[in-house]
Amino acid sequence: MSAFVIDNIGLLVTAEPSLGEGPLGLVRDASVVIEGGLVTSIERAGAAGDDRLDAAGRCVMPGFVDSHTHLVFAGDRADEFAARMAGRAYAASGIRVTTEATRAASEDELRSLARARRGEAIQAGITHLEIKSGYGLEPETERRSCAVAAELTDDVTFLGAHAVPGEYEGRADEYVELVCGEMLDACRPFARWIDVFCEEGAFDADQSRAVLEAGRDAGLGLRVHGNQLGFGPGVQLAVEMGAASVDHCTYLADEDVAALAASDTVATFLPATDFSTRQPYPDARRVIDAGVEVAIATNCNPGSSYTTSMAFCIALAVRDMRMTPEEALLAATRGGARALKRDDVGRLAPGARADVVILEAPSYTHLVYRPGVPLVGATVIAGEAVLLELT
Ligand code: NIG
Repeated sequence: MSAFVIDNIGLLVTAEPSLGEGPLGLVRDASVVIEGGLVTSIERAGAAGDDRLDAAGRCVMPGFVDSHTHLVFAGDRADEFAARMAGRAYAASGIRVTTEATRAASEDELRSLARARRGEAIQAGITHLEIKSGYGLEPETERRSCAVAAELTDDVTFLGAHAVPGEYEGRADEYVELVCGEMLDACRPFARWIDVFCEEGAFDADQSRAVLEAGRDAGLGLRVHGNQLGFGPGVQLAVEMGAASVDHCTYLADEDVAALAASDTVATFLPATDFSTRQPYPDARRVIDAGVEVAIATNCNPGSSYTTSMAFCIALAVRDMRMTPEEALLAATRGGARALKRDDVGRLAPGARADVVILEAPSYTHLVYRPGVPLVGATVIAGEAVLLELT
């Protein structure tokens, strides 16, 4: 097997503290040796290999792991966004607008839309992501969405319980039965996870518990959307059910923080959502200092967060959520991997997948220091250069 070396790395972020300085496991003047799509060693600059990419002193890091996206959808809600910026409040009912467009789209249309968004995410340095369904809200479109997502990732999440569709207005319990029965059966072959939007205006605690139990009985891992628009039962339910992650966490009571700290459930922040919906930002400092494991994700979706820029999310987390650049970068790499219960991505260490981003910058701090500037110079996924534009 031939060895590919990324050489002359000025600053290497391994995200593996045992390999270098501090929580990011920093190594200076390094090279990364890759064989068969995996990292085989981290060495001093000048390591031997068959092929070589000269990083010329740049900062190199693990690709971002985006543990929360809704990439499969049709339609556009730019007008809704503009109205929100003019003062209208965000409402989960907007999901129905996208549902109408998604139901009308063919599988091929959904495939090409999702692929384009996946391409955009790669350019932004996201080398692994989770993709949810949730804009079909009936068995066939949910199945189609999961099938398309499964072509792009092995972390597919069935989110039939994203909203109660119009035809079930006032009959949420009946809709939950559909989700837990026919819809789950249709989506199960493509999915690794099940998720539920546990929030006022979506699903209450009992309905959410029923969805999670059905998913668990079908062999799926559990995820929860919770505490996005107000205080509520989402976090406590996620912890009680042993969910891998509870996402949003914008409104956390002291008891929620304590429950998370005593659990293995990751708190995933979605700061671009709080930006795009004019919600307050969560205080990540309070959560981290309590000992909670955290992740940051883009939540790319047409309603509350239409971005694939993890760098933007990191900048918000540092600027407005009291995270340090180191904490935010770790949350967007290793934290995302933990939220997906994986250790093959989100870090650069022997045995991990060679998912690498080369920044057009000498340090990761530039992700925050230069907001809005596309700093991803090259992206490598499983040892293959997907995007290579180093000058
Ligand atoms: O994570 N909270 C629920 N779902 C999405 C929003 C979806 C939409 O508005 O279309 C979210 O923010």
